[in-house]
Amino acid sequence: MSDPEALLRIAVEAAGEAGRLLASWRGDERPEIVDTKSSPTDVVTEMDRRSEALITEWIRAVRPGDTVLGEEGGQTLGGPGATDAGGHARVRWVVDPLDGTVNYLYGLPDWAVSIAAEVDGTILAGVVEVPRFGERFTAVAGRGAWLHRGGSAIALRCNTGVTLGQALVGTGFGYDAGRRQVQGEVVAALLPHVRDIRRGGSAAVDLCSVAAGRMDAFFERGLNYWDYAAGGLIAREAGALVGGLAGRPESTAMTVAAGPDLFRHLDTFLTRLDPERDTPRGS
Ligand code: IPD
Ligand code: CA
Ligand code: CA
Repeated sequence: MSDPEALLRIAVEAAGEAGRLLASWRGDERPEIVDTKSSPTDVVTEMDRRSEALITEWIRAVRPGDTVLGEEGGQTLGGPGATDAGGHARVRWVVDPLDGTVNYLYGLPDWAVSIAAEVDGTILAGVVEVPRFGERFTAVAGRGAWLHRGGSAIALRCNTGVTLGQALVGTGFGYDAGRRQVQGEVVAALLPHVRDIRRGGSAAVDLCSVAAGRMDAFFERGLNYWDYAAGGLIAREAGALVGGLAGRPESTAMTVAAGPDLFRHLDTFLTRLDPERDTPRGS
């Protein structure tokens, strides 16, 4: 009922369909902004909603009893299905229907569909579909991480043995101005001590980039669960450590991913900077 490989197949199919839907928009105009969330720059397009509706319907059609947690629609419970002793659905799907909405809006290629399958509270399978690059990243807990491209599958390993001074480090910024102020200060303090900084615009893609050795490390404060659920599993399965600062698990407070040795250096460096000191408006 909840074989992770079977769950991954469903996630892959749903993400593929949603990716095709999103990529099918090639208008000369930008997609219309239909709503804003945490701030005026935190936008929702009609395509975010259509992608999530497609994914939810796809999952419901094959697994009607499961719970779906989607960025746009929140948490929705399914009908009768496999439940735990407390009567809760055993499987919950964690969906970011379009990660990198601002890139999508501007016609930049770094955006993705991210779907993770959580069984009894643990993420066991995940896919990050990146249509503009024709790439799909997948992982099943304990079975490695893979990049599928052009009919071939490549096993992923993150970079190891990289010093902080040699590290290419990805990060991202939230939508709240107060939080960004601190994020800018943290980046300013880190920049002289690393090879360089990247801000790709999709946390899910960034985590896959760590898995694929395209970046040495990634960190961001303020991510939501759907931003890092699938990408975090993919990075971990590629050998990265994924967590928060000072031994805490990854969370909205902080998500860090890097090869184990670099993770420890970055953890020490970032902890000293106290990047969690912001108090965003409205939270
Ligand atoms: C955002 C992206 C971005 C990150 C933001 C996220 P969205 O997700 O992942 O890279 O910096 O924190 O909110 O809004 O495009 O789904
Ligand atoms: Ca997102
Ligand atoms: Ca999103």
